[in-house]
Amino acid sequence: MKLVTIIGARPQIIKAAALSRAIRNHYANQIQEIIVHTGQHYDENMSQVFFDELQIPRPDYNLHVGSASHGVQTARMTEGIEALLLKECPDFIVLYGDTNSTLAGAVAAAKIHVPIVHIEAGLRSFNKAMPEEINRIVCDHCSTLLFTPTKAGLENLKREGFPVEESGVSTGPTASTPSIDNPRVWHCGDIMYDNSLHFADIAETKTDIIDRLNLSGTPFVLATIHRDSNTDHPERLSAIFKALILLSEECRIVLPLHPRTSKLLKSNLNEELQKQVFNNTNISLIPPVSFLEMVALERHAQLVMTDSGGVQKEAYFFKKPCIILRPETEWVEIVQTGNAVLADADEATIMQAWQVFKDNPPRDFPEIFGDGHAAEFMLENMLKACEK
Ligand code: UD1
Ligand code: UDP
Repeated sequence: MKLVTIIGARPQIIKAAALSRAIRNHYANQIQEIIVHTGQHYDENMSQVFFDELQIPRPDYNLHVGSASHGVQTARMTEGIEALLLKECPDFIVLYGDTNSTLAGAVAAAKIHVPIVHIEAGLRSFNKAMPEEINRIVCDHCSTLLFTPTKAGLENLKREGFPVEESGVSTGPTASTPSIDNPRVWHCGDIMYDNSLHFADIAETKTDIIDRLNLSGTPFVLATIHRDSNTDHPERLSAIFKALILLSEECRIVLPLHPRTSKLLKSNLNEELQKQVFNNTNISLIPPVSFLEMVALERHAQLVMTDSGGVQKEAYFFKKPCIILRPETEWVEIVQTGNAVLADADEATIMQAWQVFKDNPPRDFPEIFGDGHAAEFMLENMLKACEK
């Protein structure tokens, strides 16, 4: 079986590590994987660092698309991916998540009849103002094999007319060949959970970030902010930073800054706020960290504050309470357990959630993301579909 895997943004590079590892360890004789990097993320600490650290094979192709408006970026990627699909003729294209790289892969492949495998299918925020929501919907509806990480994802696909049984196994006729018009859907757990389990202990021995930042034995909050809905709106970004300043009176804060956020802090926070943030010895604004460093920070943090999808989940994997800086989330199960709160960009709600979690840290984190073997499950089912 020949797969073309599309990656481009940081979380996709990280997710791809789990699938590539499973191919290397269990299916090296059966599966050939061609990796295409769109170049959506390109800074050393947003891309190369993950290949080095997570032992991901070098991309076979890099489209070097870089940053641009949604339309321009997606168009450049679509053009490049189409050419490579025509050249490589894979059995499947593998697409992760909901970025513009995902959308470009979906549009390019569907039009020339290359079957799509969508990993992280079915998630919905029900907020179409999010670029990612458009990307997810388009990709799901162009896909042939859909792997959903959560039960909520499965329910969403069912509601949108996908043939899904309660058990999570597609009701499509098993003898027929799956196709874009006869898709198959599985609920299989989260591939990021595979990675977190695999790298949790490795992170403890291979990074020194906790010592480097003098965090040993010190309670701290780990925060990340990168959604355009927060970074691009001065009033929302200011509200989040006002909360961080208040919080810093009680606790240290470590904030690895996404390049989008670094670029917008100076224009979207007023001078007074900037002074309070940049001169605050309890707020460590640092460049993006490697995945192993991030895992170490997540494991040692007292609490996580984030608008990232991946970081929300990792907080849960490592049994940390999470304040979600968004009005809604695709990862609804985390909120339903009570271990995360949707605080949006509201200073008072953020501080209220902090008080609650500080005084009563949650202890019960039921298994909602599978068994850490999602990658093997997906590869088995891709092979079966390929035999048909
Ligand atoms: C993208 C995804 C988002 C995902 C995030 C993961 C889309 C629409 N959004 O958002 O779903 O959560 O990646 O991190 O695909 N930049 C750099 N260096 C880089 C990359 C980006 O400086 O290596 C800066 C550029 O100014 C760029 C901005 O960050 O314009 C935004 O990058 P982009 O990839 O367009 O969107 P993200 O916010 O990273
Ligand atoms: N991450 C990282 N370094 C950082 C911030 C995040 O390695 O400085 C990892 C994080 O552990 C998770 C993934 O990047 O695995 C999440 O990506 P991001 O927050 O950029 O995007 P999202 O998940 O929201 O799409």
